[in-house]
Amino acid sequence: MAKKKKKMKMTAKSPAKKKTNKKTKTKMKMSSKGRGKSVESDQDIVALILADHKPLKQLIKTMKSERAEDSEKIQAFKEFAKLLTVHAKSEEESLYVYMKKVKDLREHGFEGQVEHNLADQVVEEAKRASEKELKLAQIKVLAELVEHHIEEEEEEMLPEFKKETNLEDREDIGRHYLALKEELISEGSDDAPREKDIPRQPHHNA
Ligand SMILES: [Fe+2]
Ligand SMILES: [Fe+2]
Repeated sequence: MAKKKKKMKMTAKSPAKKKTNKKTKTKMKMSSKGRGKSVESDQDIVALILADHKPLKQLIKTMKSERAEDSEKIQAFKEFAKLLTVHAKSEEESLYVYMKKVKDLREHGFEGQVEHNLADQVVEEAKRASEKELKLAQIKVLAELVEHHIEEEEEEMLPEFKKETNLEDREDIGRHYLALKEELISEGSDDAPREKDIPRQPHHNA
């Protein structure tokens, strides 16, 4: 995969053009002892992605659990599909787009995209499956696929990306990500229950 070569310079932003009064304000977390240490930012795309992975990972556990009831798995899948759609599309259009422009991150960006496409395909098939066993099999495969994808993002891609970027760039991407998410949620793209198989109505709380 992406190997470290020369450090690239991110020319996108100059530190001089810091905006301090964005509507989406940047909050710096103070370290417990720490005045003014800009340790992490709530707008940092890395923090945003990690936070959005959490509920997905939780649902994955149910989807691949040996002990969960079939109905629980199907319910978890419904929630999962909504969250995943919003997360993945926003991630593609903000983070991946950015990564594909940076030589040393480009391959990671494409790899993520390919995995998203695969997951998307399985989601659609699972939504359409009318035979329960088939649907459950697709749900399990989807869970494993996305689990692997998230693992790679967290352990390889994001650390790599972080090395190659500065906080300001990551915040810009983070704001873009949040805006995309908002847009998708308000359009209702988080919820596409076009299948007739799934019994009751979904929650809308992506
Ligand atoms: Fe992803
Ligand atoms: Fe992700």
